[in-house]
Amino acid sequence: MDRAGLVDHVRSHADGVLSSLGPDGQPQAAYLAIGATDRGELVLDARVSSRTVANLRRDPRVAVVVGGADGTTLQVEGIADLPEGVELERCAAAYLDAFPQFAASLSDDGIVVIRVRPSWARYGDYRPGGSSSVDVDLQVVVRRIRADEWELARDLRLDALRDEAAGIAFLESYEHAAAQPDEFYRSRAAASADGDDVAQLVAVEGRTWVGSATVLVERAGSRDYQGRPVERSRAVVVGVYVRPEDRGAGAIDRLLEAAARWSRDQGFDELALGVHVDNARAQASYRRAGFVPSGVEFTGSIGPEIEMVRAL
Ligand SMILES: CC(C)(COP(=O)(O)OP(=O)(O)OC[C@H]1O[C@@H](n2cnc3c(N)ncnc32)[C@H](O)[C@@H]1OP(=O)(O)O)[C@@H](O)C(=O)NCCC(=O)NCCS
Repeated sequence: MDRAGLVDHVRSHADGVLSSLGPDGQPQAAYLAIGATDRGELVLDARVSSRTVANLRRDPRVAVVVGGADGTTLQVEGIADLPEGVELERCAAAYLDAFPQFAASLSDDGIVVIRVRPSWARYGDYRPGGSSSVDVDLQVVVRRIRADEWELARDLRLDALRDEAAGIAFLESYEHAAAQPDEFYRSRAAASADGDDVAQLVAVEGRTWVGSATVLVERAGSRDYQGRPVERSRAVVVGVYVRPEDRGAGAIDRLLEAAARWSRDQGFDELALGVHVDNARAQASYRRAGFVPSGVEFTGSIGPEIEMVRAL
Protein backbone atom coordinates (compact mmCIF):
# COMPACT_ATOMS: atom_id res chain seq x y z
CA MET A 1 0.00 0.00 0.00
CA ASP A 2 1.16 3.54 -0.75
CA ARG A 3 -0.05 6.98 0.31
CA ALA A 4 -2.91 6.89 -2.19
CA GLY A 5 -4.12 3.67 -0.54
CA LEU A 6 -3.80 5.31 2.88
CA VAL A 7 -6.00 8.18 1.67
CA ASP A 8 -8.61 5.70 0.40
CA HIS A 9 -8.61 3.76 3.69
CA VAL A 10 -9.02 6.86 5.83
CA ARG A 11 -11.75 8.30 3.63
CA SER A 12 -13.72 5.08 3.59
CA HIS A 13 -13.50 4.57 7.38
CA ALA A 14 -13.52 8.19 8.57
CA ASP A 15 -13.00 7.60 12.28
CA GLY A 16 -10.50 6.21 14.71
CA VAL A 17 -8.49 6.69 17.87
CA LEU A 18 -5.74 9.25 18.32
CA SER A 19 -3.25 8.81 21.10
CA SER A 20 -1.15 11.72 22.31
CA LEU A 21 1.25 12.08 25.23
CA GLY A 22 0.04 13.56 28.51
CA PRO A 23 2.00 15.91 30.81
CA ASP A 24 3.89 13.02 32.42
CA GLY A 25 4.43 11.15 29.14
CA GLN A 26 1.50 8.84 29.72
CA PRO A 27 -0.57 7.87 26.62
CA GLN A 28 -3.99 9.51 26.38
CA ALA A 29 -6.40 8.38 23.66
CA ALA A 30 -9.47 9.98 22.09
CA TYR A 31 -12.00 8.67 19.59
CA LEU A 32 -12.44 11.17 16.72
CA ALA A 33 -13.74 11.69 13.19
CA ILE A 34 -10.72 11.56 10.86
CA GLY A 35 -10.31 12.77 7.28
CA ALA A 36 -7.37 12.72 4.86
CA THR A 37 -5.86 15.32 2.55
CA ASP A 38 -4.93 14.41 -1.03
CA ARG A 39 -1.31 14.30 0.17
CA GLY A 40 -2.04 11.65 2.78
CA GLU A 41 -2.07 13.75 5.95
CA LEU A 42 -4.73 12.93 8.55
CA VAL A 43 -7.04 15.79 9.54
CA LEU A 44 -9.16 16.01 12.68
CA ASP A 45 -10.78 18.69 14.76
CA ALA A 46 -10.72 19.23 18.52
CA ARG A 47 -11.64 21.79 21.15
CA VAL A 48 -8.82 24.24 21.67
CA SER A 49 -9.30 23.65 25.42
CA SER A 50 -9.08 19.83 25.10
CA ARG A 51 -6.29 17.81 26.66
CA THR A 52 -5.44 16.49 23.16
CA VAL A 53 -4.58 20.00 21.92
CA ALA A 54 -2.64 20.77 25.11
CA ASN A 55 -0.70 17.53 24.64
CA LEU A 56 0.12 18.25 20.98
CA ARG A 57 1.39 21.73 21.81
CA ARG A 58 3.76 20.15 24.34
CA ASP A 59 4.79 17.07 22.35
CA PRO A 60 3.58 16.61 18.74
CA ARG A 61 4.19 12.84 18.56
CA VAL A 62 0.99 10.86 18.04
CA ALA A 63 -0.25 7.37 17.16
CA VAL A 64 -3.55 6.87 15.36
CA VAL A 65 -5.62 3.84 14.46
CA VAL A 66 -8.19 4.30 11.69
CA GLY A 67 -10.97 1.78 11.23
CA GLY A 68 -10.96 -1.74 12.63
CA ALA A 69 -14.61 -2.76 12.87
CA ASP A 70 -14.62 -4.29 9.37
CA GLY A 71 -11.40 -6.22 10.00
CA THR A 72 -9.10 -3.75 8.24
CA THR A 73 -7.02 -1.28 10.22
CA LEU A 74 -4.47 1.40 9.58
CA GLN A 75 -1.91 2.20 12.27
CA VAL A 76 -0.15 5.53 11.86
CA GLU A 77 2.64 7.18 13.78
CA GLY A 78 3.47 10.78 13.02
CA ILE A 79 3.83 14.38 14.01
CA ALA A 80 0.78 16.54 14.65
CA ASP A 81 0.46 20.29 14.27
CA LEU A 82 -2.22 22.97 14.11
CA PRO A 83 -1.82 24.33 10.56
CA GLU A 84 -2.27 28.01 9.76
CA GLY A 85 -2.87 30.16 6.67
CA VAL A 86 -3.09 28.32 3.33
CA GLU A 87 -2.18 25.03 5.00
CA LEU A 88 -5.13 25.43 7.37
CA GLU A 89 -7.40 26.19 4.40
CA ARG A 90 -6.19 23.06 2.57
CA CYS A 91 -6.60 20.82 5.64
CA ALA A 92 -9.99 22.30 6.61
CA ALA A 93 -11.24 21.81 3.02
CA ALA A 94 -10.25 18.13 3.14
CA TYR A 95 -11.95 17.75 6.53
CA LEU A 96 -15.15 19.43 5.36
CA ASP A 97 -15.19 17.33 2.18
CA ALA A 98 -15.44 14.32 4.47
CA PHE A 99 -17.66 15.91 7.12
CA PRO A 100 -19.74 18.77 5.67
CA GLN A 101 -21.95 18.52 8.77
CA PHE A 102 -19.08 20.00 10.85
CA ALA A 103 -18.89 23.26 8.85
CA ALA A 104 -20.52 25.30 11.62
CA SER A 105 -18.36 23.87 14.39
CA LEU A 106 -15.18 24.42 12.35
CA SER A 107 -15.93 28.14 12.08
CA ASP A 108 -16.16 28.30 15.90
CA ASP A 109 -13.08 29.96 17.47
CA GLY A 110 -13.07 27.26 20.13
CA ILE A 111 -12.35 24.51 17.56
CA VAL A 112 -8.99 23.88 15.86
CA VAL A 113 -7.95 21.66 12.96
CA ILE A 114 -5.27 19.10 13.76
CA ARG A 115 -3.05 17.72 11.02
CA VAL A 116 -1.01 14.53 11.41
CA ARG A 117 1.89 13.98 9.03
CA PRO A 118 2.57 10.24 8.99
CA SER A 119 6.15 9.08 9.48
CA TRP A 120 5.23 5.38 9.64
CA ALA A 121 2.06 3.47 8.79
CA ARG A 122 0.96 -0.15 8.64
CA TYR A 123 -2.17 -1.57 7.04
CA GLY A 124 -3.67 -4.76 8.43
CA ASP A 125 -6.33 -6.94 6.86
CA TYR A 126 -7.71 -9.47 9.35
CA ARG A 127 -10.97 -10.29 7.62
CA PRO A 128 -12.05 -13.94 7.49
CA GLY A 129 -10.04 -15.97 5.01
CA GLY A 130 -6.68 -14.42 5.62
CA SER A 131 -4.54 -12.32 7.89
CA SER A 132 -1.89 -9.96 6.61
CA SER A 133 -0.21 -6.69 7.39
CA VAL A 134 1.98 -4.50 5.25
CA ASP A 135 3.99 -1.33 5.90
CA VAL A 136 2.67 1.62 3.90
CA ASP A 137 5.18 3.13 1.46
CA LEU A 138 5.01 6.82 2.38
CA GLN A 139 7.58 7.97 -0.18
CA VAL A 140 6.74 10.11 -3.16
CA VAL A 141 5.97 7.82 -6.11
CA VAL A 142 7.59 8.62 -9.47
CA ARG A 143 5.95 7.19 -12.57
CA ARG A 144 5.13 7.98 -16.17
CA ILE A 145 1.91 9.92 -16.68
CA ARG A 146 -1.20 8.32 -18.10
CA ALA A 147 -2.93 9.74 -21.18
CA ASP A 148 -6.13 10.46 -19.23
CA GLU A 149 -4.20 12.69 -16.79
CA TRP A 150 -3.89 15.57 -19.26
CA GLU A 151 -5.70 18.02 -16.97
CA LEU A 152 -3.36 17.30 -14.05
CA ALA A 153 -0.39 17.67 -16.42
CA ARG A 154 -1.76 20.99 -17.69
CA ASP A 155 -2.39 22.32 -14.16
CA LEU A 156 1.14 21.44 -13.01
CA ARG A 157 2.60 23.03 -16.13
CA LEU A 158 0.64 26.23 -15.60
CA ASP A 159 1.75 26.38 -11.94
CA ALA A 160 5.37 25.86 -13.05
CA LEU A 161 5.10 28.73 -15.53
CA ARG A 162 3.94 31.03 -12.72
CA ASP A 163 6.90 30.07 -10.52
CA GLU A 164 9.21 32.92 -9.56
CA ALA A 165 12.08 31.07 -11.31
CA ALA A 166 10.06 30.54 -14.53
CA GLY A 167 11.93 33.27 -16.41
CA ILE A 168 15.21 31.35 -16.11
CA ALA A 169 13.67 27.87 -16.21
CA PHE A 170 11.15 27.49 -19.01
CA LEU A 171 11.07 28.55 -22.66
CA GLU A 172 7.29 28.95 -22.75
CA SER A 173 5.32 31.80 -21.18
CA TYR A 174 2.35 31.27 -18.87
CA GLU A 175 0.14 33.28 -21.26
CA HIS A 176 1.07 31.05 -24.20
CA ALA A 177 0.45 27.83 -22.26
CA ALA A 178 -2.82 29.08 -20.74
CA ALA A 179 -4.18 29.93 -24.20
CA GLN A 180 -3.64 26.42 -25.58
CA PRO A 181 -6.84 24.45 -26.22
CA ASP A 182 -7.66 21.26 -24.27
CA GLU A 183 -6.84 19.23 -27.37
CA PHE A 184 -3.22 20.39 -27.18
CA TYR A 185 -2.86 19.02 -23.64
CA ARG A 186 -4.78 15.85 -24.48
CA SER A 187 -2.47 14.96 -27.34
CA ARG A 188 0.65 16.00 -25.43
CA ALA A 189 -0.30 13.76 -22.50
CA ALA A 190 -1.07 10.87 -24.87
CA ALA A 191 2.33 11.23 -26.56
CA SER A 192 4.14 11.55 -23.20
CA ALA A 193 2.40 8.55 -21.67
CA ASP A 194 3.39 6.02 -24.29
CA GLY A 195 5.98 5.34 -26.99
CA ASP A 196 9.69 5.97 -27.47
CA ASP A 197 9.82 9.67 -28.32
CA VAL A 198 8.88 11.43 -25.12
CA ALA A 199 8.18 10.40 -21.53
CA GLN A 200 6.72 12.70 -18.91
CA LEU A 201 7.55 11.51 -15.41
CA VAL A 202 5.58 12.76 -12.46
CA ALA A 203 6.25 12.71 -8.71
CA VAL A 204 3.06 12.00 -6.77
CA GLU A 205 2.46 12.29 -3.02
CA GLY A 206 -0.80 10.52 -2.23
CA ARG A 207 -2.96 12.03 -4.95
CA THR A 208 -1.09 15.32 -5.31
CA TRP A 209 1.32 15.91 -8.18
CA VAL A 210 4.38 17.54 -6.62
CA GLY A 211 6.76 17.65 -9.58
CA SER A 212 7.60 16.55 -13.06
CA ALA A 213 10.42 16.03 -15.59
CA THR A 214 10.12 15.12 -19.24
CA VAL A 215 12.61 13.20 -21.37
CA LEU A 216 12.65 14.09 -25.07
CA VAL A 217 14.37 11.84 -27.58
CA GLU A 218 16.03 14.03 -30.18
CA ARG A 219 16.69 12.11 -33.38
CA ALA A 220 19.71 12.77 -35.58
CA GLY A 221 18.72 14.96 -38.51
CA SER A 222 15.86 16.68 -36.63
CA ARG A 223 15.96 19.96 -34.71
CA ASP A 224 16.21 20.04 -30.92
CA TYR A 225 13.78 21.79 -28.55
CA GLN A 226 15.85 24.96 -28.94
CA GLY A 227 15.61 24.74 -32.77
CA ARG A 228 19.22 23.66 -33.31
CA PRO A 229 20.12 20.79 -35.69
CA VAL A 230 20.68 17.42 -33.94
CA GLU A 231 23.75 15.55 -35.20
CA ARG A 232 23.57 12.47 -32.97
CA SER A 233 20.38 11.03 -31.46
CA ARG A 234 20.19 11.70 -27.76
CA ALA A 235 17.93 11.96 -24.72
CA VAL A 236 17.34 15.36 -23.12
CA VAL A 237 15.54 16.30 -19.90
CA VAL A 238 13.22 19.32 -20.10
CA GLY A 239 10.36 20.81 -18.08
CA VAL A 240 11.93 20.07 -14.69
CA TYR A 241 9.78 21.36 -11.85
CA VAL A 242 9.07 20.65 -8.18
CA ARG A 243 6.41 22.62 -6.32
CA PRO A 244 7.97 25.18 -3.91
CA GLU A 245 6.51 23.48 -0.82
CA ASP A 246 8.00 20.14 -1.89
CA ARG A 247 11.52 21.30 -2.65
CA GLY A 248 14.45 19.91 -0.74
CA ALA A 249 12.61 16.67 0.03
CA GLY A 250 14.15 14.40 -2.63
CA ALA A 251 11.47 14.46 -5.35
CA ILE A 252 13.94 15.89 -7.88
CA ASP A 253 16.42 13.04 -7.23
CA ARG A 254 13.72 10.44 -7.87
CA LEU A 255 12.53 12.23 -11.02
CA LEU A 256 16.06 12.44 -12.45
CA GLU A 257 16.74 8.83 -11.54
CA ALA A 258 13.56 7.75 -13.34
CA ALA A 259 14.53 9.92 -16.33
CA ALA A 260 17.94 8.22 -16.42
CA ARG A 261 16.37 4.76 -16.16
CA TRP A 262 13.92 5.42 -18.98
CA SER A 263 16.67 6.84 -21.22
CA ARG A 264 18.91 3.86 -20.50
CA ASP A 265 16.06 1.53 -21.41
CA GLN A 266 15.79 3.34 -24.76
CA GLY A 267 19.44 2.46 -25.43
CA PHE A 268 21.04 5.83 -24.66
CA ASP A 269 24.33 6.05 -22.77
CA GLU A 270 24.04 9.73 -21.90
CA LEU A 271 21.35 12.12 -20.66
CA ALA A 272 21.68 15.85 -21.35
CA LEU A 273 19.94 19.05 -20.27
CA GLY A 274 20.31 22.80 -20.62
CA VAL A 275 20.19 25.07 -17.58
CA HIS A 276 20.38 28.86 -17.27
CA VAL A 277 23.70 30.12 -15.94
CA ASP A 278 21.87 31.94 -13.12
CA ASN A 279 19.72 28.95 -12.08
CA ALA A 280 22.08 27.95 -9.27
CA ARG A 281 19.53 25.82 -7.39
CA ALA A 282 18.70 23.70 -10.44
CA GLN A 283 22.40 23.32 -11.28
CA ALA A 284 23.16 22.14 -7.73
CA SER A 285 20.39 19.56 -7.84
CA TYR A 286 21.61 18.31 -11.24
CA ARG A 287 25.18 18.02 -9.94
CA ARG A 288 23.94 16.00 -6.99
CA ALA A 289 22.21 13.65 -9.48
CA GLY A 290 25.47 13.07 -11.35
CA PHE A 291 25.24 15.69 -14.10
CA VAL A 292 28.41 17.62 -14.99
CA PRO A 293 28.91 20.58 -17.35
CA SER A 294 29.76 19.31 -20.85
CA GLY A 295 31.57 22.52 -21.76
CA VAL A 296 28.86 23.49 -24.26
CA GLU A 297 27.40 26.96 -23.65
CA PHE A 298 24.66 28.56 -25.70
CA THR A 299 22.22 31.42 -25.61
CA GLY A 300 18.60 30.40 -26.03
CA SER A 301 15.37 32.32 -25.72
CA ILE A 302 15.77 32.61 -21.90
CA GLY A 303 19.38 33.81 -22.10
CA PRO A 304 22.77 32.16 -21.49
CA GLU A 305 22.63 28.44 -20.66
CA ILE A 306 25.09 25.66 -20.03
CA GLU A 307 24.66 22.06 -21.06
CA MET A 308 25.05 19.39 -18.38
CA VAL A 309 25.34 15.66 -19.08
CA ARG A 310 25.17 12.45 -17.10
CA ALA A 311 26.60 9.14 -18.28
CA LEU A 312 24.05 6.32 -18.03
C1 LIG B 1 15.15 22.95 -9.86
C2 LIG B 1 14.29 22.17 -8.87
C3 LIG B 1 13.50 21.11 -9.61
C4 LIG B 1 15.24 21.50 -7.86
O1 LIG B 1 14.48 20.78 -6.91
P1 LIG B 1 14.70 21.09 -5.34
O2 LIG B 1 13.83 20.18 -4.57
O3 LIG B 1 14.50 22.56 -5.15
O4 LIG B 1 16.21 20.72 -5.19
P2 LIG B 1 16.98 20.41 -3.84
O5 LIG B 1 16.49 21.35 -2.78
O6 LIG B 1 16.91 18.96 -3.58
O7 LIG B 1 18.46 20.75 -4.23
C5 LIG B 1 18.83 22.06 -4.50
C6 LIG B 1 20.30 22.22 -4.34
O8 LIG B 1 20.56 23.62 -4.55
C7 LIG B 1 21.09 24.17 -3.38
N1 LIG B 1 20.49 25.49 -3.31
C8 LIG B 1 19.32 25.85 -2.77
N2 LIG B 1 19.10 27.15 -2.98
C9 LIG B 1 20.15 27.61 -3.67
C10 LIG B 1 20.52 28.87 -4.18
N3 LIG B 1 19.73 29.93 -4.01
N4 LIG B 1 21.69 28.98 -4.83
C11 LIG B 1 22.50 27.91 -5.00
N5 LIG B 1 22.20 26.67 -4.56
C12 LIG B 1 21.04 26.54 -3.90
C13 LIG B 1 20.73 23.24 -2.27
O9 LIG B 1 21.64 23.34 -1.20
C14 LIG B 1 20.82 21.90 -2.97
O10 LIG B 1 22.16 21.54 -3.19
P3 LIG B 1 22.93 20.45 -2.29
O11 LIG B 1 22.22 19.16 -2.43
O12 LIG B 1 24.28 20.39 -2.91
O13 LIG B 1 22.91 21.00 -0.91
C15 LIG B 1 13.29 23.12 -8.14
O14 LIG B 1 14.02 24.04 -7.34
C16 LIG B 1 12.39 23.89 -9.07
O15 LIG B 1 11.38 23.39 -9.51
N6 LIG B 1 12.79 25.15 -9.41
C17 LIG B 1 11.97 26.00 -10.29
C18 LIG B 1 11.96 25.50 -11.72
C19 LIG B 1 13.36 25.26 -12.27
O16 LIG B 1 14.27 26.03 -12.04
N7 LIG B 1 13.50 24.18 -13.04
C20 LIG B 1 14.75 23.80 -13.65
C21 LIG B 1 14.84 24.28 -15.05
S1 LIG B 1 16.38 23.85 -15.82
